[in-house]
Amino acid sequence: MGRKIILTGDRPTGRLHIGHYVGSLRRRVELQNSGEYDRIFIMIADAQALTDNADNPEKVRQNIIEVALDYLSCGLDPQKSVLFIQSQVSELTELTFFYMNLVTVQRVQRNPTVKAEIQMRGFNDSEGADNKAGTPVGFFCYPISQAADITAFKATTVPVGEDQEPMIEQTREIVRKFNATYGPALVEPEILLPDNAACLRLPGTDGKAKMSKSLGNCIYLSDSAEEVAAKVKGMYTDPGHLQVSDPGKVEGNTVFTYLDAFCRPEHFERYADCFKGRKVSFEFHSLDEMKAQYRAGGLGDVMCKNFLNAVLNETLEPIRNRRKELEQRIPYVYEVLRKGSETARAAAAETLADVKRAMRINYFDPGVLDEMIREQTEKYAQNNT
Ligand code: TRP
Repeated sequence: MGRKIILTGDRPTGRLHIGHYVGSLRRRVELQNSGEYDRIFIMIADAQALTDNADNPEKVRQNIIEVALDYLSCGLDPQKSVLFIQSQVSELTELTFFYMNLVTVQRVQRNPTVKAEIQMRGFNDSEGADNKAGTPVGFFCYPISQAADITAFKATTVPVGEDQEPMIEQTREIVRKFNATYGPALVEPEILLPDNAACLRLPGTDGKAKMSKSLGNCIYLSDSAEEVAAKVKGMYTDPGHLQVSDPGKVEGNTVFTYLDAFCRPEHFERYADCFKGRKVSFEFHSLDEMKAQYRAGGLGDVMCKNFLNAVLNETLEPIRNRRKELEQRIPYVYEVLRKGSETARAAAAETLADVKRAMRINYFDPGVLDEMIREQTEKYAQNNT
């Protein structure tokens, strides 16, 4: 049986939000604590963040600590997982350079996530501001660099959100191509997606497709209880649900999507008070019962939101409290990252050595130089006779 190794990470372009949490972070902590993995690497992808923030390295630099604080607050444990900073593992860029030869421009152009991101960032707009027009080559190549991130640690398992699926597919292709061309040095990884549909792509509080800082529709892990309550109060529900007595729609209703992602049956007992009103009261035992009542009419958005707020707060409160503590221990957090980066570097260096050996570009490794000298000397001895 081969070793089970996890690698995953996030771009440090902002604080992490509950979309990150249900999409990947919660799972990582579970996997970490399951004891089933031999090694776990969690990467802060600052170099990847720079591929479309080259003019704003300060933003990336500032957000490294934010992401690290979010990680540790969620329960990632430096005793069990290696937390590191991508740019400090220079072996990753060397691997990227060799993998680039195994991928065509046309193939990257077909990568759906890259396509969508180029669109979203306006890189293709001739109308865009001059300095924004065009796709940075580094950005274009980030799927290849991501293949280096994953393979450098011989990761078998990559827990990520749905949008990363094309990256893992492209990584698998690179691994197959590499192994077929140079010999079996690399491990083909598998993606681990959230098993719950609501967690695959948690919408923003406005009901828009995805939480994103630029849309201002995020609930951050670091938001205060008051901020979360206000955001929940303002959440998009069913625009057709005008009177409490009207039948309501659950599909596409963000409050229910969030409940799908966060609610467990025991919450109905714990927060039963949320459904005790002046005029009407309800007693639910499951989300299905609550949804049935909402569909039938009579259950108001305010009750639903109060319940959601209680459910969210149960998850967020301990994270928030741990974050407050860690914010007082900044030297410790940087020490975790420094040590983690050293550990990650040693692991990546081993793979880079394997890769160079497979490609036979390890000219000066012990024994190799002697062998090469013998081979070439013999060649020229024969040539000259
Ligand atoms: N692309 C990922 C994101 O945007 C971050 C990332 C970089 C990553 N390298 C990775 C994720 C390797 C998983 C594996 O969130």
